[in-house]
Amino acid sequence: MTKTQNKKQSATKISASKSSAKKLSPHFYITTAIDYPNANPHMGHAYEKIVADSYARWMRLKGAKVHFLTGLDEHGVKLQTAAEEEHLAPQDFVDEKAIIFKDFCKKLAISYDDFIRTTQPRHEKVAQELFKQVFDQGEIYKGYYEGYYCVPCETYWTQKDLVDGNCAECKRPTQSLKEESYFFKMSKYQDRIIKHIESHPEFIFPESRRNEILARLKKEPLRDLSVSRTSFEWGITTPIDPTHVIYVWFDALINYVSAVKEAPLKFKTFWPADVHVIGKDILWFHTVIWPAILFSAGIDLPRSVYVHGFINDENGEKMSKSKGNVVDPMAVVDKHGVDALRYYFLRAVPSGQDGNFSEKELVARFNCELADTLGNLLSRVTKLIESSCNGILHNAVYADEIDVSASMRQADELMRTRHHNRALDVVWTELHRLNAYVNARQPWKIKGEEERNVVLYNIAENLRILSIALSAFIPDSAAALFTQLGADAEKQNFAAAEFGKGSFNIKKDRALLFPKIEYAEKRHFPLDLRVAKIEEVKDHPNAEKLFVLQINLGTEKRQLVAGLKQWYAKERLLGKHLIVLCNLKAAALRGVESQGMLLAADDENTVAVLEAPESKPGDRVFVEGYDTHGPFSTIDLEAFRKITLKANHENHITCVEYGNARLKTHRGEYVKVQHVSAGAKVR
Ligand code: MSP
Repeated sequence: MTKTQNKKQSATKISASKSSAKKLSPHFYITTAIDYPNANPHMGHAYEKIVADSYARWMRLKGAKVHFLTGLDEHGVKLQTAAEEEHLAPQDFVDEKAIIFKDFCKKLAISYDDFIRTTQPRHEKVAQELFKQVFDQGEIYKGYYEGYYCVPCETYWTQKDLVDGNCAECKRPTQSLKEESYFFKMSKYQDRIIKHIESHPEFIFPESRRNEILARLKKEPLRDLSVSRTSFEWGITTPIDPTHVIYVWFDALINYVSAVKEAPLKFKTFWPADVHVIGKDILWFHTVIWPAILFSAGIDLPRSVYVHGFINDENGEKMSKSKGNVVDPMAVVDKHGVDALRYYFLRAVPSGQDGNFSEKELVARFNCELADTLGNLLSRVTKLIESSCNGILHNAVYADEIDVSASMRQADELMRTRHHNRALDVVWTELHRLNAYVNARQPWKIKGEEERNVVLYNIAENLRILSIALSAFIPDSAAALFTQLGADAEKQNFAAAEFGKGSFNIKKDRALLFPKIEYAEKRHFPLDLRVAKIEEVKDHPNAEKLFVLQINLGTEKRQLVAGLKQWYAKERLLGKHLIVLCNLKAAALRGVESQGMLLAADDENTVAVLEAPESKPGDRVFVEGYDTHGPFSTIDLEAFRKITLKANHENHITCVEYGNARLKTHRGEYVKVQHVSAGAKVR
């Protein structure tokens, strides 16, 4: 192709992109659900934020003015209880958690523009105003609520909703509730909501969720919603009655409006939101309750609700502390880097569906797709440009032998229709095509400088264009790609994704972009160790040296017999959070049953119990590098004695080790033991 032909082709492409730029709405308001900070952030939170972030970044690449909102849902019974358990005032508790959640966002490279907390005055004010507005409409009335309440879901249920007497959503036990309450006349909006969903096919994605909601709405009459509580205090007081606080979901949903309501111009610019990104468990709240509130308050509905699936463990089971199969997203980021996790989530989990988190698969994809297909291409082309033309290649003089820029439009269409994993498939198809081009043209064998430079420019330029797309998904790696290529990162947006716009000045010191990861198959850890709270200590009726303990393991209570009388006064054990071996065969010790063993370290001078004061009853204890998820078979004392756990001093504390790895609770706290020397054996 001649240079003139090349220019002509570029010119048509530019005008095509100009006309599509005209169609682009200049503003894009995207939100995530606001998380309950009753515990630390988990995989589901990470997944949702990463997905939303990729859409926010994509729209920024296209030149849209993006407002990306995330934050915390800080009121409700669940929060109040969590704070009480930590002996903290709810506000202090959520303030501490907010730091952790913000840090979490930072570590995941979440490019949010605003972080809302429902305890902020800016939110409380708007929540009260909206409540009042709905009341003034005559759509809030006083009544009496009698039914069931699920605290983990903060949801009301009737008797017939319950599944085996438990919450229909999370299957956990509910509380029966009888109290005075204000009700919102949600029933009034049933037909209007159905009509809205039917006439706005893009309102709920994916379609299966839309069908699910429509079917439910058409099946039975919508009930009015209880929107206030009197039996607890940790909420926003209703503007109509100081003895009631606003129901936490009514309060929480309003965050999407309150975040932009402070400044009228901001509201005018960004509302209605373009997309609420949420998980499947909160679909009803966002596509039925929220529209009803907005209809009543006379506010436009959000344009769409994008519903993602759930992240489960590698076997497809729900992650939960009691099962001990929780994987901490921060530990994954610390171990493999943020883009390893982002890439894995965005590529491996089909949009809108559930996904299993498997570290093994993450490592396999990292090594094959990021390291081999992408990292290797970068390292080949940078080396070749360096040796062939001293690292410098200017634009606009080379014909396009291969041009991937059309794939940007394909990916854009997939992003528009919320298929981010397929957008990444498109990028990878193009990366394979580019690798095939390199292998076919073999620039290292080309003797003529001009011809060689054409090929090198083609490789670098197409890699640059694909990196623009990648910057929405793996932003840190894309930035490193631009830096290594010496392409101005600031300018790498949609408009620059045209062949011929890039110039290269290869950076001299280049770190390998995706050094391969070794995946060590986890070995099985045979001990079911858990944190227990000591609730009662009594003397053994028939043995001088033994105590009988009643312990709380979160989900169950047990009795233990422990030979600690010589070393501990009862009060020193009472209320402590200690470590118990739970899969030891139960045995009668001098006629009293012991259902497990309290662990202690013995250095032959003294004996000290293993502790985890910051952790909660029932928390699992795990060992890095080992599979501590169970299931555990029951072991006898002899088998336990063959397993060596010993104390070791590190950073002024005495930890407990198995092999060379320290014992840690799921809360991330190291198991400690005081007053024993290093090497003391756990027995
Ligand atoms: N506070 C409410 C949301 C209020 S929005 C006005 C809430 N909080 S949550 O912390 O329980 O969940 C926050 C988000 O994480 C929700 O969208 C939820 O669906 C999502 N996830 C929670 N667990 C999840 C997985 N295991 N996998 C993927 N996402 C899941 O609900």
